[in-house]
Amino acid sequence: MKIIRGIKEMRELSRKAHEEKKRVGLVPTMGALHKGHLSLIQRARKENDAVFVSVFVNPIQFGPKEDYRRYPRNLKADARLCGQAGADAIFFPDERSMYSSGHGTHVCVEGLSDILCGKLRPGHFKGVTTVVAKLFNIVDPDTAYFGQKDAQQAVIVKKMAGELNMPVTIKVLPTVREKDGLAMSSRNAYLNDRERSDAAVLFQALTLAKDLLKRRFNDTSLIVRKMKELINSKRSVKIQYVCVVDPRSLRPLHKITGKALVMLAVKIGGVRLIDNIMVNRNA
Ligand code: PAJ
Repeated sequence: MKIIRGIKEMRELSRKAHEEKKRVGLVPTMGALHKGHLSLIQRARKENDAVFVSVFVNPIQFGPKEDYRRYPRNLKADARLCGQAGADAIFFPDERSMYSSGHGTHVCVEGLSDILCGKLRPGHFKGVTTVVAKLFNIVDPDTAYFGQKDAQQAVIVKKMAGELNMPVTIKVLPTVREKDGLAMSSRNAYLNDRERSDAAVLFQALTLAKDLLKRRFNDTSLIVRKMKELINSKRSVKIQYVCVVDPRSLRPLHKITGKALVMLAVKIGGVRLIDNIMVNRNA
């Protein structure tokens, strides 16, 4: 697997690909790749002639008390997985080349960035949009691939690309889950056995929301209350939020009349986990 560390080199490779009329796909990641990431790379492989995966643990999207230092890093394993999934190269810039000292330019999608996860992680989405904008500028992809697992991130990135007239199509792909429904995440590795088995309650709660809607309960306060009761039955799980929102504006809904996004964030032990499911009253 080709590992590109230099920004100039990455730009040159993408420029050449465009010159040869190749379709360029980008999968932005922070590494520690799992099947969720691989599903994005595999889709990118199907739809493009050149596929780049960026691996960059972006310091500016972590809060001061978050896990930036201990975030799992394993380039060797990532390179092997990228190869198997069909990527052409990994873009692996170092921190200093991405953020020179005195870096002061940021991209922020107002409104959407300070609600839900943004409220609990101030500055997080500003860090995400800034690095994603930089990656788009460097790699210049025709299409970039994101996971529905990070629903708020996907909505924000789409809005940024649209409003800043970035010449890139954003594709959002379904969440890949473990056998018991837990969404795959690099952070699942931090859970001990007990916490890991309790974590299955997250998908059970999302499924409960879907079932309630199927049984014609569309009042979101009832749905949220039932979900919270179920989650609270696991002692290790502490709820940060459970809510039902409009899939585009991410604003809370009182009643579900069409499509809605059921979202949750919890802490299990010291580990923060998020998940969501799209529901549709008319489906
Ligand atoms: P990271 O957490 O590494 O995730 C990279 C991409 O993989 C994101 O688009 C995320 O939504 C997707 N992903 C993660 N788990 C998934 C799963 N179980 N199923 C499907 N897709 C999944 O998200 C980031 O990195 C960063 O914020 C980044 C966008 C790279 C900016 O630094």
